[in-house]
Amino acid sequence: MQNQPTICYIEGDGIGAEIFRHAQEIFDKAVNLSFGGEKSIHWKKVHAGEKALSEVGEYLPQETLDAIKEHGLAIKGPLGTPVGGGFRSINVALRQQLDLYACVRPVSYFEGIDSPVKRPEDVDMTIFRENTEDVYSGIEFESQSEEAKQLIGYLESSLNVTKIRFPKTSAIGIKPVSAEGTKRLAKAALDYAVAQNKKRLTFVHKGNIMKFTEGGFRHWAYETANDYPVFTQLEYLQIKQEAGIEAANKAKEEAQSQGKIYVDDVIADNFLQQILLNPSHYDLVATLNLNGDYISDALAATVGGIGISPGANINYETGHAIFEATHGTAPDIAGLGLANPSSLILSGVMMFEYMGWGEVASKIKEALGKTLKSGCLTKDLGGTATTSEFSERIASYLN
Ligand code: NAI
Repeated sequence: MQNQPTICYIEGDGIGAEIFRHAQEIFDKAVNLSFGGEKSIHWKKVHAGEKALSEVGEYLPQETLDAIKEHGLAIKGPLGTPVGGGFRSINVALRQQLDLYACVRPVSYFEGIDSPVKRPEDVDMTIFRENTEDVYSGIEFESQSEEAKQLIGYLESSLNVTKIRFPKTSAIGIKPVSAEGTKRLAKAALDYAVAQNKKRLTFVHKGNIMKFTEGGFRHWAYETANDYPVFTQLEYLQIKQEAGIEAANKAKEEAQSQGKIYVDDVIADNFLQQILLNPSHYDLVATLNLNGDYISDALAATVGGIGISPGANINYETGHAIFEATHGTAPDIAGLGLANPSSLILSGVMMFEYMGWGEVASKIKEALGKTLKSGCLTKDLGGTATTSEFSERIASYLN
């Protein structure tokens, strides 16, 4: 990473501009405190979303994609979804066009935030969600459309499919899940596990029902894991069968003490129970696109942080990454100075970690933690602080 990297930013729609202004001030102050002027960020504004349509006549100009490709990194606020035609979602288009295949969502608890569970402090997980495949690919055809009729006709007449219960009115979608797509995601999670010294990686899937797509994900993910220093659940179960549970637990403990990562898998519906019942058992999670969508939000809710959870979309092969606030444009409070900038600020924390500027990330995270603990909370968190008051408190805690 250069000392003066250019980072593209998309302010976003609705509350985007309000939260961005404050987040940028906090980022710059933390960089300055960390490096005393030796390193700094050159911010480059790029356009996307509703504001881009009014300013430059397009939702997602080619210049935006080119700039992110050239400079590698971007951070963005929320984008409104275009109404009628064009893109389904600009966020999805950005991820697809830059092939940002890993959606990374860390979820942990901040003291001072109200949570619906008894021990939110037990939650400390990072989710790697596959970002380019699955039913999210957007291949679906409307009920009774010519395409749906043709596809259903082909399935019934050429592939002897008899399981479509109501073929005349079924809308139909396609769920592609590939070995390449799974392996690169699993590799990203495993590399992260090694770099961060994680003890456990869990593959979450629904392979008991969707045997070839989600079952394929499970199979290819384990295949990838075998190239790493791991002790797998399969090995554990084999020892348990041959020598009993104590021997299996001992082997697992020994492997982990030698620095091996314990790799297991859990069915998605069970995992949604586990995050409520035994969150401390889990650490890193790799999963498919749709499961990841549900799990990230459910998990964020357990720490009361659905509005403050950050996210990143990364292609670890090209290095391109977009860090983003995970909430929407909040049209109901836009312009009122009430928005909580935490999700964007924590996305910045992820960005600085990714850049290798860990000292900047730690400073910001610590200052945000102190702010929340001090009871300075925005309205969505049950407080009365405005966006400015909340952000100024964070800035005042930076040191
Ligand atoms: P939303 O997340 O914008 O709002 C849901 C509720 O949460 C609202 O009551 C809002 O006031 C509140 N809220 C959200 N962010 C907040 C913040 N930072 N501080 C305080 N309160 C906050 O979801 P909604 O209403 O479903 O979507 C509005 C628009 O945002 C839609 O066009 C949607 O497509 C888009 N959207 C964009 C996303 C993105 O760019 N990553 C993600 C989700 C929605």
